[in-house]
Amino acid sequence: MLLDGKAISKTRQTAVKDTVQSLPDAPHLVVVLTTDNPASQSYVKAKEKAAQHVGFKSTLIHDTTLDETRLLQLIDTLNQDPGVHGILVQLPLAKGLNVERVMRAIDPAKDVDGFHPENVAALFQKRPGFVPATPRGILTLLDAYEIEIESKHVVIIGRSQIVGTPLVHLFLHRNATVTVCHSKTEDLKSYTLSADILVVATGRARMITADYIRPGAVVVDVGINRVDGKLVGDVDFEAASKVASYITPVPKGVGPMTISSLLENTLDAYTRQRSQS
Ligand code: GUN
Repeated sequence: MLLDGKAISKTRQTAVKDTVQSLPDAPHLVVVLTTDNPASQSYVKAKEKAAQHVGFKSTLIHDTTLDETRLLQLIDTLNQDPGVHGILVQLPLAKGLNVERVMRAIDPAKDVDGFHPENVAALFQKRPGFVPATPRGILTLLDAYEIEIESKHVVIIGRSQIVGTPLVHLFLHRNATVTVCHSKTEDLKSYTLSADILVVATGRARMITADYIRPGAVVVDVGINRVDGKLVGDVDFEAASKVASYITPVPKGVGPMTISSLLENTLDAYTRQRSQS
């Protein structure tokens, strides 16, 4: 069965839109883009479009000339501005910009990406904070299909700070047994074949073939690769879908869930800032 990220994202966006209509003013998301990276430009465009669709105010600051001092000044200005509720600095950053310093500069209360060390620690320690959008979206998608997580063996391939590592915490909080595999893992298949839920975030097109998947497993494909002008995931969808019980397509799987989760994070940021003032 298909895990239809597009449909679930749409439902979640409609819920955000309905909430926004009852608010005294619009949540405001500011996205900062420091490169001309085509993939980043397309992600940022999708985020802006969705933000506007749900009735947010959305501002894109696309500036490839910012040095770190000026970027930090810009972030400080946005931090101080009570009319800005969410700040997202798209990664990867332009050359010469230090990602740790830039992430640390964002007010944790406006850090809708959940990349600030304070929010990273909050997830680690099970305190309220912002959870990165893709991991949040994956859990939302599994929950929408009422897929059991407790006591299941979740195997995550990929240990990035954006996807794999936050997912470890989210699944542990839900009482799963979690295994993390990565590029240095030996005999990958020996792990994946025991997965009840297999999350693939390797960045290698169609790397996970049907023989890696336990019959009946749930497969979540986080990959977005362009092959011969076509978007494909990290999983060989055609073959894998014959073995899996549930599987996300690419596109229209995890990607749209990232977008709706970013909107939910921004709405949460707005609500928390409002209740503070
Ligand atoms: N680059 C790839 N994914 C993301 C994301 O979720 N947030 C930001 N800021 N940059 C990214």
